Amino acid sequence: MLPDPFIADTFGRRFPYLRLSLTDKCNFRCSYCLPNGYKKDGQDSELDQTEIIRLVRAFSRLGVWKIRLTGGEPTIRPDFLDIVRKIASLDNIQKLAFTTNGYKLSERAQDYFDAGLRAINISIDSLKSEQFRTITGQDRFSEVLDGMNACLDAGFKTVKINTVLLKGLNDEELDDFIRFVEDKPVSLRFIELMRTRDNLDYFQNHHLSGALVSQRLLSLGWAAKPREVGAGPAVEFEHEKSTGKIGLIAPYSKDFCSTCNRLRVSAKGALHLCLFGEGGYSLRHLLQHDDQQQELQDQIISLMNFKKSAHFLHQGNSGATPHLASIGG
Ligand code: 5AD
Ligand code: SF4
Repeated sequence: MLPDPFIADTFGRRFPYLRLSLTDKCNFRCSYCLPNGYKKDGQDSELDQTEIIRLVRAFSRLGVWKIRLTGGEPTIRPDFLDIVRKIASLDNIQKLAFTTNGYKLSERAQDYFDAGLRAINISIDSLKSEQFRTITGQDRFSEVLDGMNACLDAGFKTVKINTVLLKGLNDEELDDFIRFVEDKPVSLRFIELMRTRDNLDYFQNHHLSGALVSQRLLSLGWAAKPREVGAGPAVEFEHEKSTGKIGLIAPYSKDFCSTCNRLRVSAKGALHLCLFGEGGYSLRHLLQHDDQQQELQDQIISLMNFKKSAHFLHQGNSGATPHLASIGG
């Protein structure tokens, strides 16, 4: 039995899932995220290992049992494996996942697994080497693909591929992506491009509605799976002839937010109640001593009163989020 998450908001949603950014830095330059590469922003340093463990311990005592490490690119941190080992050894953490751009994944997959990671999301926005380079600024398609295979060999329980849907850049590959998963035990999720503070022009040029994907899948005989209890906002499709599954993350669709089950903490220790919320609430001052645990938990619970029902993106709100590398996608 999984523990009942205690963290709840005023709309009755519960939060068993924390996405923790380990760094804002990234070594890729995805055109929708950091087209000019990572630029240092502000003076504050990233949380150190001790702060991270205090933070995760508090959330786990509040019933959080799934943690995803994100960034930026989380594996850039020299102490990435140490952090993983420490979180994996905490009581109550049942699922430790991470999101990566796949940099050096083929040589590192086994180390990631051995440190305690069991679920991985790899970003792959094109199956064509040249187009992959155009979108990410890195000529590393085959490295990332080898990395995906290395994860399957290493024993990862869950291997997911994130593909941002981009008009004019990868929409013609829709059927290739669907065919790609046919013989692989992976789940590929198409993510509708989200508007952020920095990508307005790009958004206008390349945003495509996720409805296109569901229509195509349904016409090819795929069926939407019934939602599992506690599942997040993705809709998953399956097909009897395909080993792999296809998911759709469509933040602009109706009711997307009603299944929200996650909270986010930035690399500098700010709690973000929504990907598109304003600012974030710093918890860092409560991560300085072991004897602040109770105060930290009380603060997290009380901040939940500020979580809104939805993101209001439809009204043009893209919040204060400059790009998703700053708060971990
Ligand atoms: N819209 C949708 N997805 C995005 N990601 C980053 N920026 C955006 C955006 N503006 C995705 C990446 C990666 C994950 C971390 O977030 O593709 O898979
Ligand atoms: Fe880096 Fe991820 Fe942003 Fe790409 S989407 S630039 S891999 S943080």
